[in-house]
Amino acid sequence: MKDKLIIFDTTLRDGEQSPGASMTRDEKVRIARALERLKVDVIEAGFPAASDGDFAAVKAVAGAIKDSTVCGLARALDKDIDRAGEALKQAQSSRIHTFIATSPIHMQMKLKMSPEQVIEYAVKAVKRARLYTDNVEFSPEDAGRSEEDFLCRILEAVIDAGATTLNIPDTVGYSIPAEFGAMIANLRRRIPNADKAIFSVHCHNDLGLAVANSLSAVMNGARQVECTINGLGERAGNAALEEVVMAIKTRHDVFSCDTRLDTREIVACSKLVSSITGFPVQPNKAIVGANAFAHESGIHQDGVLKNRETYEIMRAEDVGWSANRMVLGKHSGRNAFKNRMTELGFEFQSESELNDAFYRFKQLADKKHEIFDEDLQALITAVNTDS
Ligand code: KIV
Ligand code: ZN
Repeated sequence: MKDKLIIFDTTLRDGEQSPGASMTRDEKVRIARALERLKVDVIEAGFPAASDGDFAAVKAVAGAIKDSTVCGLARALDKDIDRAGEALKQAQSSRIHTFIATSPIHMQMKLKMSPEQVIEYAVKAVKRARLYTDNVEFSPEDAGRSEEDFLCRILEAVIDAGATTLNIPDTVGYSIPAEFGAMIANLRRRIPNADKAIFSVHCHNDLGLAVANSLSAVMNGARQVECTINGLGERAGNAALEEVVMAIKTRHDVFSCDTRLDTREIVACSKLVSSITGFPVQPNKAIVGANAFAHESGIHQDGVLKNRETYEIMRAEDVGWSANRMVLGKHSGRNAFKNRMTELGFEFQSESELNDAFYRFKQLADKKHEIFDEDLQALITAVNTDS
């Protein structure tokens, strides 16, 4: 029996921190419903103390969602925690996520606090959050650049104060996979009461390593991953939910945990988030890009037509695409061309008729990036007219 990996989606909070990606209350509710259909475990709906609008959005999501836990972010300040508690009142299941920075640069330059003061604030915040819910998450912000000894001290103290999830953020995307995985293993080993809480990770993508760091953490015992649809998020974004989830599912041979997500909802979620935020998905984006399951080269198309597993490690249908896609272009071979023509209802009467049509197709493909069905129809008409 595998462990459960909790998927904590922060599209509506960290994702919304992408410059230009802010969402209205109703848009957040639409996305939250899509995330609920996807069966994510926790939806971080926003930061209620940030604005009246975000308070209203978190409240609306809390009222609308039944099957996922709804979470609100709060700094380690009474007023933030009270605001989050208030916004989450109607939730069937709620979580307060409180955070304070723990790296030397953040404590000295931003907070202007001593490490002892930071621990005091963290403990006080967790205790206050526990007055609203027994599901409290604590994050030592910029953990990736924090000292391990200090992290051990503060995390032990917040567990004693009632934190049930310890989230380790690589806030500035500075870590690399082996190092980040080792950090999770060390914290779990060194903190005496570590088994009383679930370890979570929250990785940013500044070096393009957010998903790799998250997976390395999972291999070292993290049992919650924070991520966003399409990898949306502050600066270069967060770990992409679709990549984390499909890596765990596809490589179940190496992971000792599993998610409960209905992965067939992934593409629908991706398209919804893209259309609401106006952030297009790049065509070669893993899982949700338009080319993620498209084959153009003749060798690949021939292989896939014989057996999909020659060039596909996942099924397009399992993530919500209607099918894989054979793109006809100048790299395509006779087999894929003939196959598509048959699908369009055209049967070649002889080998030479096929050769002639394939020759015309290649000439056209040299002039166009992609050959669509309409181009093939025109080609058939031309073959018929000329013969
Ligand atoms: O990146 C970060 O550190 C955060 C925290 C609030 C968890 O988003
Ligand atoms: Zn973040």
